[in-house]
Amino acid sequence: MTIKFFDVETGKEINKKTEEVKSEEKEEELKEEHYMLKEILEQPETIKKATEQDEQKLLETAMEILRAKNVIFTACGTARYAAIVGRYLFSKIAKKFSEVIMAHEFQYFIDSVDKDTLIIAVSQSGETADVLEGVKKAKENGAKIVAVTNVENSSLDRISDQTFFLNCGPEIAVASTKAFTGQLAVLYLLAFATVNKIQEVKIELKKVSEKVEEIISQNGGLLKELAEKLKDHQDFYFIARGIDFAIAAEGAIKLKEISYAHAEGMPAGELKHGTLSLIEEGIPIVAICPKDYTYEETLNNVQEAKSRGGFIIGVSDEKNEIFDSWLKIPKIEEIFYPLLTVIPLQLLAYYLAVARGNNPDKPRNLAKSVTVK
Ligand code: M6R
Repeated sequence: MTIKFFDVETGKEINKKTEEVKSEEKEEELKEEHYMLKEILEQPETIKKATEQDEQKLLETAMEILRAKNVIFTACGTARYAAIVGRYLFSKIAKKFSEVIMAHEFQYFIDSVDKDTLIIAVSQSGETADVLEGVKKAKENGAKIVAVTNVENSSLDRISDQTFFLNCGPEIAVASTKAFTGQLAVLYLLAFATVNKIQEVKIELKKVSEKVEEIISQNGGLLKELAEKLKDHQDFYFIARGIDFAIAAEGAIKLKEISYAHAEGMPAGELKHGTLSLIEEGIPIVAICPKDYTYEETLNNVQEAKSRGGFIIGVSDEKNEIFDSWLKIPKIEEIFYPLLTVIPLQLLAYYLAVARGNNPDKPRNLAKSVTVK
């Protein structure tokens, strides 16, 4: 079939350039019960695939990050939580301050974006309207655009100066899982590229992918049981500090979007500034507290919730008597914990949605890519 394009005003035919696009968007045969579960289980492999990046490109972008006056991440939802991990990494590894701005709020900061600004746009689909709008405006102001996306030839890919692909294959379930860990892997590579440690970080990310496998094979049963126990609760709180805060926020969004229960993720230090008044007997509090630089202080905040009757679910490599339920993760070099702690939270959200009789692949009122403003 031949398709012709015409200019609406002049009626003249427009000669369009044709380009062949790789389309992997066909839904593969499903062995698991849902795409979301399939995609969670794929992560040991997809994390490795995300590390397959051109080293020269990583080094060049790392230099841009260090040189830029301002580095701003823009993204929505889960992609924004990946960006928040990136922000902590840039500070800790590259010693570079950066900001994360929700894409739909970005236009209100556009006056401070100029040619010395580097924008890092994170988007699985590369088609999120809010992200594209902000990026276009930033480009008009002369900013450089780096995209972290899963989709080749997406609008974001085409508009950006540099693109890093996640290489994780199509993500079908509305709830983002393997794209999130892929985004993290790319951001770890960029952060470590700023200190010339690409090989070292690749070795660590390979170890991480093996540990992800371990979590998946060891925690499934326990998480199913826990979901059954918690299925009638309507409020959940996820708390953590530092880099782990992003995972608290990610755990909460995952749970609420597919189980339709209310969930909030927040920095643990913020509890006593308001939310603590909501904690009463039996309220589930998920504490992300690996044995890293946040451990002791997060546990102090967990104690505040526990003494008000909260039911504490600890995600940690270290057992603690304060936990009513312990989601065990393996030990790893501390900066990499976010890639491990998120896995039991994805599984918890999945099993909870199933226990509540929902279809986790197609949550009500939500679309896979939000192409409207
Ligand atoms: O395609 P994008 O990464 O730009 O999508 C952004 C959000 O809409 C998306 O991450 C959403 O929050 C997920 N459904 C959460 O699982």
